[in-house]
Amino acid sequence: MSTSLSKVRNAETQSVEPFTNEGAYHGSTEQKPPGPPETDVAEEKRATTLERYLARGVTEIESFEANFPNRLELVERLPAPSQEQVRDDGVTFCWCPFEEAIELAGPLTLSVLMGMRNGLTGTRRYAYFDSKIQYFLPGDLPVDSCLRHVDESIAVRDTRVLPFGVKVLHDIRARQERQRYSPILQAYQSSGHCATGFLDGPLRLRMPELIPNFRAFDAAVRASGVPEIAHEAGTIRRYDGRTVHWATPATSAGWRLWARCVETDVEHHPNASVIECYGTVFRPRRPVF
Ligand SMILES: [Fe+2]
Repeated sequence: MSTSLSKVRNAETQSVEPFTNEGAYHGSTEQKPPGPPETDVAEEKRATTLERYLARGVTEIESFEANFPNRLELVERLPAPSQEQVRDDGVTFCWCPFEEAIELAGPLTLSVLMGMRNGLTGTRRYAYFDSKIQYFLPGDLPVDSCLRHVDESIAVRDTRVLPFGVKVLHDIRARQERQRYSPILQAYQSSGHCATGFLDGPLRLRMPELIPNFRAFDAAVRASGVPEIAHEAGTIRRYDGRTVHWATPATSAGWRLWARCVETDVEHHPNASVIECYGTVFRPRRPVF
C-alpha cells in the first residue's frame, strides 16, 4: 500500500470529474454495505451519543446547543512559491506518516513539512500528512463538496446506523463533549485563488446531536452571520475538530499545493485507489456560488 505518488504534472493532463457536492474529502465516494461495528475503537472515534441512543432503543434524534470556537492559529508564514515550483514539486501524499513524507517530499512540500513540524503538538499517537498538487480552471473545486463541515468528525458507517434509516451518522455531540480527544490539524495552501473558507469567530448553534451529512449544517452556518475569512496564501494554520470550514471554487486558473497534517490516535491505512484519485479536481456544470 502506497501513501505517496510521484508524478510529472501539466495542465493538460490534470484529472477532472463532474462536481456533485456529495463527495468524501479523501476522494473516495465508494459506498460499502455497512459491516459490524469495529472493536477496540480509540476514544477519539467513540460515538458516545449514538451509544446512548442504542442503549435506550431510541431513534428519534434530539437537538442540543453546539459550540464551535473556530480556533485557527497561525503556525508559520512561508514565502509564496511560483506556479512552476508548485507544478514541478513531484510527490504528493495521502495519510503518509509525517516522518516518511519528509524523506520523499519535493523542495516546496519539504518547506511546508518543516513549518508544520514546528506546529506539531506531539500529543497523539500518529501524525499523518496529506497533500495535493492541482491545476484549476476558474470555477473548479479541489474536492467534491463545498459544504461547511468540521474535519475528522466521528462518522459511524456500520450496522449501528441502520435503525436510523441512513448509511452514515456523524456524532457531533460526542466530539463536542469529548473535545480533549479531538485530532489536531494543520493546513497549508500555496496560493490564494482557491482558498479554503473558515469561520472567523465563535458559533453557537442549536442542531441535531447526530447528522447524516453536512447539508442542513451548511445552511445553518450560512444563516448564522458569523464572519468568514479565506486561508491566506503561504500560511500554515492549526485547528481542531470544532473548526468550521469549506472548499471554495477557484477564482482564476493556476496551480495550487494544498497540504494537511493530522495528529490523531487513529491508525489509517488508505487503499491504493484513494491516492490515485486524490488530486482530481471537480468541475461544476454551473457555478456553485
Ligand atoms: Fe475539511
